[in-house]
Amino acid sequence: MGIAVSPQIHPQVAEFLEKPRQMLINGKWVNSISGKTFPTYNPATGEILAQVAEGDREDIEQAVKAARRAFDQGPWRRLTASERGRLIWKLADLLESHTEEFAYLESLDNGKPLTIARGADVPLAVDLFRYMAGWTTKIEGNTIPISVPYTPGAKYLAYTLREPVGVAGQIIPWNFPLLMAAWKLGPALASGCTVVLKPAEQTPLSALRLGELIMEAGFPEGVVNIVPGYGETAGAALAAHPKVDKIAFTGSTEVGKLIVHAATGNLKKVSLELGGKSPNVVFKDADLDSAIPGAASAIFFNQGQCCCAGSRLYVEKPIFDRVVEGVADHAKKINVGSGLDPETHMGPLVSQEQLSRVCGYLEAGFSEGATALAGGHKKGNKGYFVEPTVLVNTREDMKVVQEEIFGPVVVAMPFDDPEEILPRANDSDYGLAAAVWTRDIGKAHRMAEHLHAGTVWINCYNILDAALPFGGYKQSGWGREMGHEALNLYTQTKAICTRLS
Ligand code: NAI
Ligand code: MG
Repeated sequence: MGIAVSPQIHPQVAEFLEKPRQMLINGKWVNSISGKTFPTYNPATGEILAQVAEGDREDIEQAVKAARRAFDQGPWRRLTASERGRLIWKLADLLESHTEEFAYLESLDNGKPLTIARGADVPLAVDLFRYMAGWTTKIEGNTIPISVPYTPGAKYLAYTLREPVGVAGQIIPWNFPLLMAAWKLGPALASGCTVVLKPAEQTPLSALRLGELIMEAGFPEGVVNIVPGYGETAGAALAAHPKVDKIAFTGSTEVGKLIVHAATGNLKKVSLELGGKSPNVVFKDADLDSAIPGAASAIFFNQGQCCCAGSRLYVEKPIFDRVVEGVADHAKKINVGSGLDPETHMGPLVSQEQLSRVCGYLEAGFSEGATALAGGHKKGNKGYFVEPTVLVNTREDMKVVQEEIFGPVVVAMPFDDPEEILPRANDSDYGLAAAVWTRDIGKAHRMAEHLHAGTVWINCYNILDAALPFGGYKQSGWGREMGHEALNLYTQTKAICTRLS
């Protein structure tokens, strides 16, 4: 294929896109059993970028067999923790040395600005792998003094081991394709699990290239298997598979619920990182020179396609006009264009489907009485671009205020005091993130305590780190990714008790 990219852009990327991409099963690159492929598109142009092997139930079957064998019989479990850590560290080094190539691949497949992929997505993925590599040698159990009242006088030695849960199925979305692969693979590999990873059908390329580096780093065959394909087929087969011990999912809340149902067959462990409608609260005592650009980037970063986007902007009344006009000014100055153009601040949405979804929300907002201080429309006729949008005259009962839009659209509403804002900020089925902007540290931390969210940012937004746990309250998910908490998702505790006398 390679039709949408000229070789001058990046020679290795052009070469990678030349041939249909295969899937990684048991250390080998193979076609799908059906022989079918599917296209992945360049969202800046709507043209086909590459053809990719289309995994389905039979391919998942093979991948799970390989992961099962690698976990149950392969050399992987016999590696020392230090050896496992070194492999993960080596993968991080390899990824880092291919930063430019991954940045191009990510920008082409997802649409995001090359500068962002180069400056954020790839380095964050590298850092995550290094952070998790360090954990392999620190996954420890405890020794536990036990009393056992019904065996008076007896002595015991009791301790716990933390063991890998086994074969992990991992289903990831398209908004940060490489980074989501890293968030999933890093802790699973650090824990000693084996994996079947299904990338999103919109953005399979960087995960497949990462698969090549995984093999180059020297991971044993079958430890990581990567099966691209659609959610309803490959994804559903993985979630329901009886030989998969754990399923980790990031995506829509709707599909998250399907995953829970699918997991009931063998009661596999489930972790979910789902949607959000995160409140971003600006008090009148905030430093507006940082709050205004902060509120703009909270929503517009990554084209608004962030599960933790600051999509409900609440501003204390006396400064409401100033803040929303400031955010609207930022919105109007954003260069929207192809991710490969160095002048671009915001790329296209990922797909035609996502463009239609976001435009549908804009229409719903306008028909319910919202007005746009900036943007409000699709941009151009080629590619999936939408204008950065600030909606005012919005009310809590509107669809645009209740539901996750997952595009560059913020709804802004005034409030009177901290007493009033807390219940409004918490009035959501979601609870992924929240932010507070104020110079009053007492107020900031009281708000932080009472906001129902897995992450609360104070005077900043979208600060994510490999060491900081991330995940949702309420319907935003189950479990925490990143930080050492992520290891809990991929390990289980065994209690061992020895009678000494
Ligand atoms: P989605 O939830 O359908 O897709 C995410 C992943 O799940 C993809 O890999 C997909 O192939 C897979 N999948 C889909 N149906 C499945 C099924 N029945 N069984 C197993 N796997 C399945 O999300 P979609 O349709 O791409 O986007 C819809 C909305 O979801 C967005 O507008 C946004 O609101 C939300 N979303 C949230 C994300 C997050 O980071 N929390 C990421 C992507 C989407
Ligand atoms: Mg879907």
